[in-house]
Amino acid sequence: MIGDIFLIKGGKIATPDGIMKGCVRIEGGRIAAVSADLPADGADIVDASGMLVTPGLVDLHCHLREPGYEEKEDIASGTTAAAKGGFASICCMANTNPVNDNAVVTEFIKKKAALAGPVHVYPIAAITKNLAGEELTEVGELVEAGAAALSDDGKCVRNAQRMRLALSYAKRFGIRVISHPEDTDLTDGGLMNEGYWSTAIGLPGITRAAEETMIARDCTLAEVEHTGVHIAHVSTAGGAEIIRQAKRRGVRVTCETAPHYIYATDELVRGYDTNTKVNPPLRAEDDRRALIEALLDGTIDCIATDHAPHHADDKNVEYAIASSGISGFETAFSICWTVLVKGGYMTAEKLLEKMTSAPAKILGLDTGTIAPGCPADVAIIDPDAEWTVDPDKFASRGHNTPFGGRTLSGVVKCTIAGGKIAFGGEWACR
Ligand code: DOR
Ligand code: ZN
Repeated sequence: MIGDIFLIKGGKIATPDGIMKGCVRIEGGRIAAVSADLPADGADIVDASGMLVTPGLVDLHCHLREPGYEEKEDIASGTTAAAKGGFASICCMANTNPVNDNAVVTEFIKKKAALAGPVHVYPIAAITKNLAGEELTEVGELVEAGAAALSDDGKCVRNAQRMRLALSYAKRFGIRVISHPEDTDLTDGGLMNEGYWSTAIGLPGITRAAEETMIARDCTLAEVEHTGVHIAHVSTAGGAEIIRQAKRRGVRVTCETAPHYIYATDELVRGYDTNTKVNPPLRAEDDRRALIEALLDGTIDCIATDHAPHHADDKNVEYAIASSGISGFETAFSICWTVLVKGGYMTAEKLLEKMTSAPAKILGLDTGTIAPGCPADVAIIDPDAEWTVDPDKFASRGHNTPFGGRTLSGVVKCTIAGGKIAFGGEWACR
């Protein structure tokens, strides 16, 4: 057993000053010391030789499905999957049933997570009641109840005046609005990215303009309201370029992309596997490369999973009626590590920043850094080991991934949240 005081020894630690060989001492749920060498001094030892010791990963965008859709996922299974993926802190979207549009639901999620979940859960509350895009939620009450941000994710706030008001209220209460950029008049009827492959395989396309016009709208609204906005799941080259320009003129816009957009393209849809159906859709190779470029130049601030678990019954149907979403917690890190770091695009430091301190900073979460005094949220990763994705072995109730059978680099061995082992206890005690 590993107790409350322990020392992670022998690994390479990702600190704010770079990656260095050393020890991390954890005591009372906090990081007590970080140094090249530390004595055991009554602590249990976790041998991390050959491992990368990083801040626990931070996910700004996931779907835990509870309350209401427990056949897809619940807070216990979702947080277990998150821990298995190296995440110590996750923010869950409001499209539950009932919708998280009031303090009772926000408090329920927090309480349930504290009881059943091994990682920190930050509920994101809705912008509009029942995600209907009409009446705004009670921002003050939601902030009081502990909402970490506001988003109608899954749906776009179609009325620009409502969105403008939401940004203005959110500014007053010091909470960030997360935009799901999708003009649903433009996406209506579409099933996959509009382009060569949609024509080749005969599925109706979704134009990039549906995403890009809304990104432009929300950057402009944030600009006139002199406030910030966070754009969810940027998937197109043009979307990234709009954000790049907005940042250049001083708009406080931040954004994320998801692992599947930098790993796969719409060519994958040619087999009609409904596990490739996701919203926004997988795009083309030019987009994929532009997203990597945008991560590198700082246009895209962070990577979020958009973990969207679904039941087999929602996916084992025709492409047209299948639910959108990919179960992403358990492959997110390895996909990014394999494509970006092993692929030679990015340093390990840069990727870890995009998955830890950068997302934490966007929502002001007290995590994402290994330094004395910080919460003891840590992941221990074997950077060179490979594994093959087997959706049947997912801890998530959602086995919906198009990446089954793929071999990836980077294996999460252990996740620590708040000084407690959230995943990999056996490995830590070996
Ligand atoms: O693919 C998606 N799935 N995109 C979304 O925006 C919502 C999500 C879900 O809730 O399943
Ligand atoms: Zn979304």
